[in-house]
Amino acid sequence: MRSPARGYSIDLGSAMLRVLARDGQRVLHMPTVAALDHEGRIRARGSRAVEIQSSRPDLLTLVRPVLQRSVADPMVAAYLLRAALQEVSGARKARHFAAATLCVPDRMGELQVDALLAACETAGLRRVRLVAKSLAAAAGSGVPLAEPAGALVVDVGAERTSAALLSCGDVIATSSVPVGGLDVDAGLVRLLRHRHGLLISPTEAERVKVRIGTATTGALPVRGHDLLRSLPETRTIPVSDLARVPLATYDALAKHVLALLSDSPPKLVEDVYDRGLVLCGEGARLFGLADRLRDRLRLPVHVPDRPGDVGVLGAWDVAEV
Ligand SMILES: Nc1ncnc2c1ncn2[C@@H]1O[C@H](COP(=O)(O)OP(=O)(O)OP(=O)(O)O)[C@@H](O)[C@H]1O
Ligand SMILES: [Mg+2]
Repeated sequence: MRSPARGYSIDLGSAMLRVLARDGQRVLHMPTVAALDHEGRIRARGSRAVEIQSSRPDLLTLVRPVLQRSVADPMVAAYLLRAALQEVSGARKARHFAAATLCVPDRMGELQVDALLAACETAGLRRVRLVAKSLAAAAGSGVPLAEPAGALVVDVGAERTSAALLSCGDVIATSSVPVGGLDVDAGLVRLLRHRHGLLISPTEAERVKVRIGTATTGALPVRGHDLLRSLPETRTIPVSDLARVPLATYDALAKHVLALLSDSPPKLVEDVYDRGLVLCGEGARLFGLADRLRDRLRLPVHVPDRPGDVGVLGAWDVAEV
């Protein structure tokens, strides 16, 4: 019989909220953002919020309720969570939901936990079980959790990247740095401004970043504002120029992983060098990142099929351990 205590699996990320119903098939993705008017009323959520705010920046403000993997605005977080739960459950007006398993950062302060639980309670979740994101991501990537062998999970998000060494179903060592996909977006904005005189929006920077990985020609069209002529313009930029931008960010991530390994039990580190690391988070799709880490760390790097979803997919397995 299905336990109501494991009704939903949730990953409330800084960029993306992911929800999976225990009996459902599809992971719901909702960008973790809402558009608020001057009175503080929420006018739109998710992708629609970004879309309408860009056409009415005078009336609407975008609020991202999760910053650096911590709930910064519990009310807005609760609103998004409730809307996502309503959508996943198919009960559009529901105000109470079966309990949930929530993926959370491996180490959390008391205030962080309080803010998260406040958001869950306001969203209508009464019973919440917290599981470490790295364990959930490992389980969702097919890593056997209960084994004593060391496993390394690197989760690249929008604003933060964590590395965690796991063994026997526990997080043995973990640390995170404020580096992620957004740093690559910012690097692209800088390159286009300084080298090409083109001012591009954060949305365009993210679009270009994603397209670098799938570009089939040697150049990509980039839309922006020509700074000299003060006019909107689309330029064709060589992919080789764009692909160089993230390398400093990738090297910072490699350094972070090395620092964690150099402080960890040698036997577990040896296992990692034998088996390689799991690279997850949607940032694992960053163009050239897996190769750069392979090269810099000299160990195998595995990227699961759905690197952003492995946490939400594996959360129940951890809860059952
Ligand atoms: N195909 C892609 N190629 C490159 N980067 C991508 C791709 N898809 C998404 N990203 C980037 O991945 C980042 C978001 O990753 P993810 O969805 O794992 O974040 P999150 O789970 O919300 O964040 P966190 O875990 O830090 O709270 C964003 O910077 C986004 O631009
Ligand atoms: Mg995440």
